[in-house]
Amino acid sequence: MEIIHRDGLARIGKFSTAHGDIQTPTILPVVNPNIPTLTTEEMVSLGARAFITNSYIIRRNTKLRERAEKYGVHSLLGFDGPIMTDSGTFQSHVYSDVEFSNVEIVDFQRKIGSDISTILDIFSEPDFSHDRAKEAVLETHRRMAELPPIDDTIMAGPIQGSLHMDLRKMSAELMSSSQAGYLPIGGVVPLLENYRYDDLVDVILSSKVNADFSKPIHLFGGGHPMFMGMAVLLGVDIFDSASYVKYARDNRMLFQDGSRDLSKIGSFPRWSPLYGKYTVDEVRNASPEERFRLLSMHNLSAIFNELEEIREQIYQQRLWQYVEARSRSHPYLFRAFLRLLDHSGSLEKFEDLSKKSTFFYFDEYSERGPYFRRIERNLGYLMSPDKGKFRVLSPDHWHPGRIHSLEFVSLYERTSERFLVPWNNTVIPVELDETYPFQQMISSGLVRPDSMAVAGEWPADGKLPEGIESGSRNFRLERVRTVADFQFGSGTGRKLFPDACEVRVSRSTGRLRSVLLDGRLLATLRAHDGFFTLGIAGAEILHDISPGLENRVVVTDDSAEFNAQGYNVFFKFVKKFDNAIIAGNEVLVVDDADHLVAVGKSVASGPEMGYYRKGVAVKVHRGVREKPEADQD
Ligand code: GUN
Repeated sequence: MEIIHRDGLARIGKFSTAHGDIQTPTILPVVNPNIPTLTTEEMVSLGARAFITNSYIIRRNTKLRERAEKYGVHSLLGFDGPIMTDSGTFQSHVYSDVEFSNVEIVDFQRKIGSDISTILDIFSEPDFSHDRAKEAVLETHRRMAELPPIDDTIMAGPIQGSLHMDLRKMSAELMSSSQAGYLPIGGVVPLLENYRYDDLVDVILSSKVNADFSKPIHLFGGGHPMFMGMAVLLGVDIFDSASYVKYARDNRMLFQDGSRDLSKIGSFPRWSPLYGKYTVDEVRNASPEERFRLLSMHNLSAIFNELEEIREQIYQQRLWQYVEARSRSHPYLFRAFLRLLDHSGSLEKFEDLSKKSTFFYFDEYSERGPYFRRIERNLGYLMSPDKGKFRVLSPDHWHPGRIHSLEFVSLYERTSERFLVPWNNTVIPVELDETYPFQQMISSGLVRPDSMAVAGEWPADGKLPEGIESGSRNFRLERVRTVADFQFGSGTGRKLFPDACEVRVSRSTGRLRSVLLDGRLLATLRAHDGFFTLGIAGAEILHDISPGLENRVVVTDDSAEFNAQGYNVFFKFVKKFDNAIIAGNEVLVVDDADHLVAVGKSVASGPEMGYYRKGVAVKVHRGVREKPEADQD
């Protein structure tokens, strides 16, 4: 799996199979070769690019079996793109009859030319005891392990474990280290059918974060558009579902926020393939077969519409906000959103340093999201009582234009206290006012009245207020140091930017632009997110002050040669790395002997870094063997 765009755990990616690439996120519509509802061409015209069918159903039916064995599953479905086959686990779980062994059903899938074949895993129901679910996990793994090495199909290794998160983790780890190249989350159909989205949040996350990130995560049966955004946010790449036909059979129509009864519908939405072609009455009065077909088409469109929207949200890095807003469309989704907030601490590790999109603050729930966890983690030290006195400025002064008035700067430079400014329900250092997400935010302004406590009044005459501690400091220097502390960890700023450095301001915008020392560029402040891009001189200092693997990506010697000349680092050449790397942050590229060879921006977070084999891991801005960078204005 190759990442093309990322937004936290969500990704737009590319997964290669023998019959072409699958662009994710996507859904594989279920094709039942016994009961063809829509043709594969019709489904392709609605957005399908890959399908899933059931090898067990084909194997049990003599006619289908013979055709599949002779001409292959692609001919059987009339489709030349990627086809995944399931094993019949679900059928054997529901009907308790197992006609074929695991080895037999996998052999059959290979024989008919399936691109992704599934083992006969053990379905773990949500109410299974720990012992019983553990047995399902271990037996599922045993069935993967009993197969010989397979290279003519990609093996799907389902993650089971019921609602026992330790078992989901165990199963994810076992399957990740097996020959499975594709990881579906199984045993979740009863949760999906009963709208238990909150439990699904736990199940998906504990499977995903313990799985190999280079393998696609599939949610077995997760085809309701209403939950897909949240599932993708948690790292699901691929869905499959028969929901488009199942709902159609009950005269129900899928929409992005739920399902609606045909009998209650007043009109079709514009995006529906039925719009403008049929009236609601015509569909209601159509023959049962025709109605079923038409509603199936509508339902599949609803699914692909939603996926298109999700993809765009990832591209714009707004998926969290989309899910936050959409969670209000249904009480069960809202309940799941609250469960998601319980996991903000884990999700934070995968969030980029900054996003392309503006940060939205709706209400108090917004401040339980991953970025707030990061702010607490990074700025908590400022608030601790032993870090000296601080003073909260009145919100009237929380306006970048005013806060940087000459009076403010003059006062600031004659004192030694911390100045904090209100930001939603918390306070942040005034020095960070141009850094993501503090400035790049739109807020409802709906904050608790008590969060605005003002500890010090602003003196109109520029005189030092009563009781304030006097001192001597430089506002520009303190600003760049505070940003460095926020970006690289507390205490970095003072070392990265020593007293002797020069902080330059843009002549055109008046904003901080770069920091130099002895004529060498330490860092440039990016206008769009207020974080630093390091120069080689800055990287050298960060290298000297960061112990062990901190802030580092260690590459092979071959790669180091190229990276030193300014070329990007590819995942396959990464040997070791700091597990705490934040995606989008600056990293030091070093060789085995810990010599700095380049500095660049990490494409992935530490927890993901070790898994990918394809694509760029670090976008290098500068190699040590290139000529020194110039400071441009
Ligand atoms: N279809 C729906 N759920 C499952 C599952 O857990 N395993 C398999 N193989 N197929 C499924």
